Amino acid sequence: MNSSDTTQHPAPTPSAQGRGLVLGVESSCDETGVALFDPASGRIVAEALHSQVALHAPYGGVVPELASRDHIRYGLRLIAQTLREAGATQDDVQALAYTQGPGLAGALLVGAQLAASLAFAWRKPVLPVHHMEGHLLSPLLADPAPRFPFVALLVSGGHTQLMRVDGVGRYRLLGESIDDAAGEAFDKSAKLLGLDYPGGPLLARLAETGDATAFALPRPLLHSGNLDFSFAGLKTAVANEVRRLCGTPLPARGAVSLPQPQLPPTHPRRADLAASVQAAIVDVLVAKSLAALRETGLRQLVVAGGVGANARLRTALAQGAAGFGAQVFHPPLALCTDNGAMIAHVGALRLAEARCDYAVNVRPRWALTELAPPLSAS
Ligand code: KG4
Ligand code: ZN
Repeated sequence: MNSSDTTQHPAPTPSAQGRGLVLGVESSCDETGVALFDPASGRIVAEALHSQVALHAPYGGVVPELASRDHIRYGLRLIAQTLREAGATQDDVQALAYTQGPGLAGALLVGAQLAASLAFAWRKPVLPVHHMEGHLLSPLLADPAPRFPFVALLVSGGHTQLMRVDGVGRYRLLGESIDDAAGEAFDKSAKLLGLDYPGGPLLARLAETGDATAFALPRPLLHSGNLDFSFAGLKTAVANEVRRLCGTPLPARGAVSLPQPQLPPTHPRRADLAASVQAAIVDVLVAKSLAALRETGLRQLVVAGGVGANARLRTALAQGAAGFGAQVFHPPLALCTDNGAMIAHVGALRLAEARCDYAVNVRPRWALTELAPPLSAS
């Protein structure tokens, strides 16, 4: 008997008598997210989220093994809670969708195993979802929603990409970061500023009281003539500013350098540096997004991923886009960062691909451009 034989279910039950909901499970990184989506109404019926921020905070970043264990701790209980809130039972679920990648392998396996096991027990089909497609299509859950085709700016902890989106699964990469992602630039700069994990939102909050013109930080690749990004140089520039502010000598070629300092919380220039970092990142994201609109001739820009929650980015994009008659779309704020709703939503859009095959495979690295349009759309 080969391994796939043991993972096929003999007879899925018909879904017609229930409410036809799609259950989504997200576990790619440091949030356990569960949601029930109703394809008939296009609405989220119930959702639950558990953030691991407090768990990882003492370590200054995500500890993969701890993340996996916590997904195990919370996954099933969030599913039970979501069903209860929706007043639904397994009979109301027609398929289970889970994040197959990209993300942390162990964390992904927890969600995949959970979804596959429940689907097996409930005799329902199961559907692997691409995490970034979840982010990318989450603005469709907002009102007003964008219409295809549009340009998407995907800005998360691991990705900074501009895409031309002609439909579900029809993604063309216009440009991307050649090194750090925008979220990484926020997080690494935040660490240098002595802020806790997760750095992005904390840096944004500190920046509110700072002067964004106080430090002249680089805007890497701003005039590169293409739609690629680079943020590694910005991090180095911030590290050097922090050394200067702390009175630590800059690293000299060939010399043993002193450890990189972090700015103490009481430092008077902290908010100014935070505001300057944020401005540098936002300026580049805005300039490239507008260039992408210009290049494609499209007039809708969709922003998705955790950094999309940044208020300054939202304001600057809206102003810039309005300058040439374009409109900017965001997911509802709660759906900017990782959540189960975006996975259930993609599950509904790709329902025809759900299978009663319970083999557990995850894809920690997986390019969005590898996706194809949903089977039903062919
Ligand atoms: O999409 P997401 O929740 O997880 C990934 O798929 O990576 O994005 C997380 C990233 C982190 O780098 C976090 O610092 C950043 O989004 N982030 C923010 C803000 N909220 C989250 N960055 C800047 N400003 C924010 N308000
Ligand atoms: Zn994400």
